[in-house]
Order: sequence, then structure tokens, then C-alpha cells
Amino acid sequence: MAAAAGGVTRQTFDEFMVPVFAPASFIPVKGKGLEVWDQEGRRYLDLTAGIAVLALGHTPDAIVEALTEQAGKLWHVSNYFTNEPVLELARKLVNATFADKVFFCNSGGEANEAAFKLARKWAQDNYGPQKNRIVSCFHAFHGRTLFTVSVGGQEKYTAGFEPLPQKIDHINFNDIEAARAAIGDDVCAVVIEPVQGEGGILPADPAYLKALRQLCDEHNALLIFDEVQCGLGRIGKLFAYMEYGVAPDIMTSAKALGNGFPIAAMLTTDRVAKAFTPGTHGTTYGGNPLGAAVANRVFDILSQPAFLDNVISQGQKLRASLERIAADYPEIFSGVRGKGLMLGLVMADKYHGRAAEITAEAQRQGLLVLLAGYDVIRYVPALVIEDRHIEEAEKLMRQAIDAWLKS
Ligand SMILES: Cc1ncc(COP(=O)(O)O)c(C=O)c1O
Repeated sequence: MAAAAGGVTRQTFDEFMVPVFAPASFIPVKGKGLEVWDQEGRRYLDLTAGIAVLALGHTPDAIVEALTEQAGKLWHVSNYFTNEPVLELARKLVNATFADKVFFCNSGGEANEAAFKLARKWAQDNYGPQKNRIVSCFHAFHGRTLFTVSVGGQEKYTAGFEPLPQKIDHINFNDIEAARAAIGDDVCAVVIEPVQGEGGILPADPAYLKALRQLCDEHNALLIFDEVQCGLGRIGKLFAYMEYGVAPDIMTSAKALGNGFPIAAMLTTDRVAKAFTPGTHGTTYGGNPLGAAVANRVFDILSQPAFLDNVISQGQKLRASLERIAADYPEIFSGVRGKGLMLGLVMADKYHGRAAEITAEAQRQGLLVLLAGYDVIRYVPALVIEDRHIEEAEKLMRQAIDAWLKS
């Protein structure tokens, strides 16, 4: 492998990095739109968008401009002071949503950590310490802090980290009866991704979200929507809850908000926000001027109705392309699911657990796609995807499947 600037290669990762990841064999060095190039100049068509982060693609001109303009003015002042970009951003988010107040932090996991802490504090303040139970779904993913892996319903992420935070129960996604049985007066919050991402690209049924809203109201519990992956235009609405017509009490947002610059937000109502007062929660970097300036510009673009309409039409085209692939390889795929530009090509039972072999072959063919669980090939491309990208991705995926079948 050619030695790049500084002489680092993929081997350097194994030598110096804590091995919590097993990255690809190549190292991307440049990106534009939906294309990336590695150290050797090889081009890849990138339909991962950095795991649903790069809504506007790699290095979009408008965001580079916002970042560099702010970089020359003010980066960071700490939360002893507020700053203009963050105030503008908070006002925009509130004006566009159910929320009255916003808390900024740096990642989806931190936004969820804040949401869960806020829910417990709010319930404790208003109803006493016994109202502390959190209900969430199996296969959910809410982040990697100890609280968020515990609320996320995936044992593989909690194993070995016990003792875990207590009073967290998991129920099957989209099962209204299970929700009814699990939600009682001791519940402070019910947490859900309106479209489950990591768990396998599973949209919630509208009746399920409505039932959760009703159960939360009956039991004075807060409804928390984790829109870290499915929000901000990903399914063709500014936020996914708008598609469902069910408003949460708390919503978390991250990923696309900074188009790759680490910034996240927890949005809530005045009634709930009151439980946090100076000193109850905080962060050093959250809402710094640099991140907020980037997010302001991202938000201005993503929130345009024409931009969101385009996500819906490009989502329909990508879905049709994936359905053609599924129809042509009925042995391998059972179908396509998801919403907007959050789509999954689902493996048939016969090939259970083998989706990773296809994504690895796709990478060799020059196409970057993701997994969601073990049986779903996940497509969460930049929302600016064009017809030519969809056509090229279909061609490369077919090549990958044919090569894999021969291997
Ligand atoms: C729905 C959801 N919530 C939370 C997170 C965690 O976000 P972060 O990795 O920024 O902490 C993710 C990340 O994939 C996610 O998909």
C-alpha cells in the first residue's frame, strides 16, 4: 500500500488504536458529494453518508463556507457565556417543531443521555422517586454511554459492563399489547426510534406511535423520540414525528445536524425543561459557536420544502431500484423496507447472517453501503443523491451479488 502523508497505513490503526472498530482496508482521504477517494486514488461511490450523517454529502460548499467563516471569528467560549450562532439555531429548531427549549451537546448518545436524565428528574420532581422506570424497545440503539446502551435493547452492547442502570424494561417494537402491559404509573418515559435504524430499518406503525402517546398520557409518562438517525429530512419530513402526526415530549437529534461536525440537540417542552436548572446537567463543548454555525447552515438547507420533496422522490427511485434487485434475486432477498432515504434490502431466511459478505464484495466493486443488524443491507445515502448515483449503485450492487454468488 502506498505510504500517504505522514506514512500512515491501515496497519497503523492496529498498532495504535484501541480496537473497538475494525475499519475497511483502505483509508479515505478526500470526499465530494457522494464520492470518496482513498490513499491510492481509488474512487468509491458512497451510499453510507458516514452512517446517515452527511445529509448534504461530503464537503458541501455552503457548509465549508459557514465553517470557515465562523472559524475566523469565534470557536469556543464555554457555557459561562452564550453565543450568537447557538441562539439562532435554538430559535430555528423551536420555531420548526413541537419544542419550546433546546439543549445542545456533541453526539446522539449524549443527547439521549440528557433525555433520559431529564425524564427521571422531571418525574422525580413532579411525582416522587418511585416514578423512575424507562420502557424502550428490543433492537433499539440509543448510543454507547452506560445509560444509553442499557436503554438500547441489545445485549451485545451491555454484556461485560454490569452493573447496569436499573429500572429499564424492553418490549417488542410495534407490539401495542406489549406496550400496554409494560407501561404503568411507575414509568417516567417511553423511548422509541420512529424508524428503528441499527436494529434493521423498521418503521413504526402509525397506530403504534399513537398508542404509545395515549399510554404515556394516561400514565403521566414522557414520550421520547430518538430521531438521531431518522430525523432531519431522512424520511422526507423535517422530523419523522411529523410524518406520523404524533408529537413527543422530548426529541433527540444529531448526525445530519452538523453534516459531520459533531453537534447534537435535545428538544423538549417548557413543562419538562423546567426540571433542569443551572448545575443539573451540562457539557463543555455543547452548542459551541463553530458547531452551531455549521448546524445553522445545514438546517437552513434541510428545512426547505423543495429539499424535502426531493428526498421523497429520490427515495422512491432508490426504493424502486432496490426492489428490482430484490425481484431479480428472490432466493437472496425477501424484500425492501424503510422510508424516504432510509432503506434496507432484507436477506431471505436462507442467507441469514450473510449480509456482511455482500457489503464486503460491494466495497471491492467500489460501492459503500452499510449493514443494519445481521440481515439487512442499509442504504442511508446523502439526501442530495441524484439519479446517476442510484443507477451506478444498482449496477455495482448487481456486480457485487454476481461476484459473491460465484465465490
Ligand atoms: C437512533 C440512534 N440514536 C443514537 C445514536 C448514537 O449516536 P452517536 O453515535 O452520535 O452517539 C445512533 C447512532 O447510530 C442512532 O442511530
